[in-house]
Amino acid sequence: MELVDRIIISEEDIQRRVRELGAAISQDYAGKTITLLCVLKGGLMFLCDLAKHITVPVAYDFMSVSSYGDATESSGVVRIVKDLEESIEGKHVLIVEDIIDTGLTLSYLVNNLHSRNPASLRICTLLNKPSNRRVDIPIDYVGFEVPNEFLVGYGLDFKQLYRNIPFIFVPRKEFIQEA
Ligand code: PRP
Repeated sequence: MELVDRIIISEEDIQRRVRELGAAISQDYAGKTITLLCVLKGGLMFLCDLAKHITVPVAYDFMSVSSYGDATESSGVVRIVKDLEESIEGKHVLIVEDIIDTGLTLSYLVNNLHSRNPASLRICTLLNKPSNRRVDIPIDYVGFEVPNEFLVGYGLDFKQLYRNIPFIFVPRKEFIQEA
């Protein structure tokens, strides 16, 4: 069955915006080294593309903070599935997310990471869904503002699948019902 109902952001538009974000980040962090903190799993594709367009030295670290599981709406319960491997004390940390929706995940993460004394802590998200926000989060870099719809692709999953699709789309209702 056909999976895609509507394409919301094309591959070309994503890649163009990722290049712009990389350039802005490179300028803002000139002379510094960045630790890119990838929030698994959704942030992985974005981090890989973004990192190619950052010209200052970068290190990666990975964290998995799950609030959704296989559900399509946030439960509000945040759980650390995998913690960072390195200390971030004194480091310039840039959190890389695929989407900020209710803000509950990031709110938890930011509080947790601040207590580890980084030199700076900023947030870069490809997608921002402000209409669904439940806690206020200052976001430093946003790729696109998106409507309050269930989105899949470019890191975003439906039942853990389709994260690899290079564009962002709304899946067909019939497909979701039958899956
Ligand atoms: C998604 C996304 C964010 C979070 C955003 O992660 O990657 O981390 O939800 O939602 P919020 O703003 O409402 O908290 P998810 O828990 O689905 O895990 P995943 O990245 O493995 O898909």
